Amino acid sequence: MCGIVGYIGDKRAIDFLLDGLTKLEYRGYDSAGVAVNCGDNIFVEKAVGRLSSLKEKLKNNLPVGTVGIGHTRWATHGRPSDLNAHPHSDCHKNFFVVHNGIIENYLQLKEDLIAKGHKFISETDTEVVAHLVEESYHGDFVLAVRDVLSKIEGSYSLLFMSKFHPDTLIAAKQDNPLVVGIGKGENFIASDIPAIISFTRQTYILNDGDIAVVQKNSVNFINRQGLPIEKKIFHVKWNAAAAEKGGYEHFMLKEINEQPKAVRDTISPHLNGKVTFNELNWNEDFLNNINKIYIVACGTAYHAGLVGKFYIEKLVRKLVEVDLASEFRYRNPIVDDKTLVIVISQSGETLDTLAALKEAKKLGAKTLAVTNVVGSSIAREAEFVINTAAGPEIAVASTKAYTTQLILMFMLALYMAQISKSIPAAEIERLIKLLKKIPAQISETLSDVEPIKTFAQMYGFNDDVFYIGRSLDYCVALEGALKLKEISYIHAEAYASGELKHGTLALIVEGVPVIALATQKSVYEKTLSNIKEVKARDAIVIGIAAAGDSELEKYLDHVIFVPDTDELLIPLLAVVPLQLLAYYAAITRGCDVDKPRNLAKSVTVE
Ligand code: G6P
Repeated sequence: MCGIVGYIGDKRAIDFLLDGLTKLEYRGYDSAGVAVNCGDNIFVEKAVGRLSSLKEKLKNNLPVGTVGIGHTRWATHGRPSDLNAHPHSDCHKNFFVVHNGIIENYLQLKEDLIAKGHKFISETDTEVVAHLVEESYHGDFVLAVRDVLSKIEGSYSLLFMSKFHPDTLIAAKQDNPLVVGIGKGENFIASDIPAIISFTRQTYILNDGDIAVVQKNSVNFINRQGLPIEKKIFHVKWNAAAAEKGGYEHFMLKEINEQPKAVRDTISPHLNGKVTFNELNWNEDFLNNINKIYIVACGTAYHAGLVGKFYIEKLVRKLVEVDLASEFRYRNPIVDDKTLVIVISQSGETLDTLAALKEAKKLGAKTLAVTNVVGSSIAREAEFVINTAAGPEIAVASTKAYTTQLILMFMLALYMAQISKSIPAAEIERLIKLLKKIPAQISETLSDVEPIKTFAQMYGFNDDVFYIGRSLDYCVALEGALKLKEISYIHAEAYASGELKHGTLALIVEGVPVIALATQKSVYEKTLSNIKEVKARDAIVIGIAAAGDSELEKYLDHVIFVPDTDELLIPLLAVVPLQLLAYYAAITRGCDVDKPRNLAKSVTVE
C-alpha cells in the first residue's frame, strides 16, 4: 500500500525515482509525486491518477538534482488528488516526506500543530510528519527525525529529505516494509526489492524501529535511541528479468504461465525420497503438543488456507480453523501454547496478517509463516518459516502465489503425516508420486486456452456470475470468483453447491452464467444433482471436470477438462481455467488487468 523510493548519488535522481515507482505501482496507483533537491530549490511535482500522468507532466521538465524521493499512493486519509499526493512538506518547504502506512494519532498532532501556527494544505495523515520535523529541527536532521518518531503512533515507513542537508536521506520503518539498496557512490531506498533490483542486488532490509541515515557513500543504521545498529547485507537472488513482463501483455498472464515452474521450484527443495522441511525439524513430541491449528490470512492467501485446512485435517487428523487475519485478533481467539498458528502471506507484509501473527505470539502460540518473500516482516516475526518459490508476483490478482501456497500446504500436511504416522507410508508415497506430476499437469492445463477465451468473450459482459462446488471445489470456487471480481468488476459469487437450495437458487434464472466445479470424486454424485438444479432453471453452466469424466458433458453447455489426479491435488489444476477466465473476461471488458481499481498488491494498512 503506497510505494516509496529514494535516491542519493551523482546521477540524475529522477531516472531512478520514475523507474522505481514504475516497479512499485502495484502497491498503489491513485496518485504519484516526486521531490528532487536541485541545489537552490527543491523541485516538486505531483499528479493524480496513474504514474503515467506524473510522467506526462514531467516530460519536458525533468529535474537534474541528484538527491530525491518519490511516492505512488493508495489513498487512506484524503481522496486521491494532487494536494493529497506525496511528498508532503512543512510550512517553509524545508523538509519533505513520503510515507507508507497510517499515523493513527495524526488528528491530535494536527490540532497541536495548527495551534502552534502550522498551515496544512492536504487532508492526509502524512502531512503532520513534515510539520513535526519542522517543529523538532534545531540544526540536527537525525535528532529531529528521532524526535518525530517518538511522537507519532501507527504504522509507517517514512523517507525524509531536507533542503538543509542535501547530502542525507533518512528512512525509518515501523510495520511497513523498506529496503536500502547499496550502490557504488550511490544508494537507493524503496518499499520493495523489484524497485532496486536493476540497480543493485546488495540490500539492507530494515527492521521495525530501524532508522537508516543514507548518504551517497554510506548507510548508517541507528535505533530510536540513536544507538548504532549492525546490519547484515542481504543479497537478492532474483534477477531483474524475474520482475519484468517478459513478452507477455500483462504480468498476470505471465504469472499464470509461470505456475508450472513456480510449483516445481516450490516442491523440489522439500523432496528427498520423502518430504523434508529442514527449516522445521519437527518431531512427534512437537506435534503431540499441538491440539489445535489456526490458519490465518487475507484474500487469496486465505483461500489457500481453506484448502490447507482440508489437507491437514484429512492427512494429519488435527483440528484446523481458518480465519481472516482482519477478524482473528479482534475476537479474543482461543489460543495458547498448544496452538499452532500458520499465517500465509505472499508478500509477507500484509498488515492484518502481521498483526494476527503478533497476537498469536503474544498468546503463546507456536507460529509458522508461509511466505513468498524471504526476509519479509512476517517471515522475520514468525518462529518457523517455509517459503513458496513463486518469484516476484507483480499483478495485483494473485495466481502463482496461490498455487505455490497450495502445494506447500500439501507438502506440510504430508510432512506432518510422516511424523505422526497418521496415514500409511504407502499412501504418502502414492501422494508424493502424484504431486511430482503437478507441474507438468499445470502446463497441460495451460496448453489449450482457446475455449476459455471464447467463454470469456461470450460471458464477459454479464452482470452476475455464480461459482459453485462442494468440498475442495468450493474453496477453488471462492478463489475463481475473487479473481473475476477483482479484475473484471463482474459481480461474482461462490457458493457451496449444497447451500444453493437454501436461498441462492432464487437468483438463478435463464441465461445466468454458472461455473460449476465437479472435480471431487467423493462428492461427485451430489455435485451432479446440484448442477442439474441450476440447469433446470436454465442457467448457462460451464463445468470444470477431471479428464475422463464422461457424465458432465451429458448435461452441460460446456465443460473444461483438467488432467486427473487425486482429489486433494486437483485444486492446483482446477483453478487455472478460472484464472484464465477472469483474465480474458477482464480483457474483453477493457479493464486494466494488472492494476484493478481501488486495489493494491500489498496491503500494509488495517
Ligand atoms: C491484497 C492482494 C491480494 C492478496 C492479499 C493478501 O488484497 O490484492 O491479491 O491475496 O492482499 O496478500 P498477501 O501478500 O498477504 O498474500
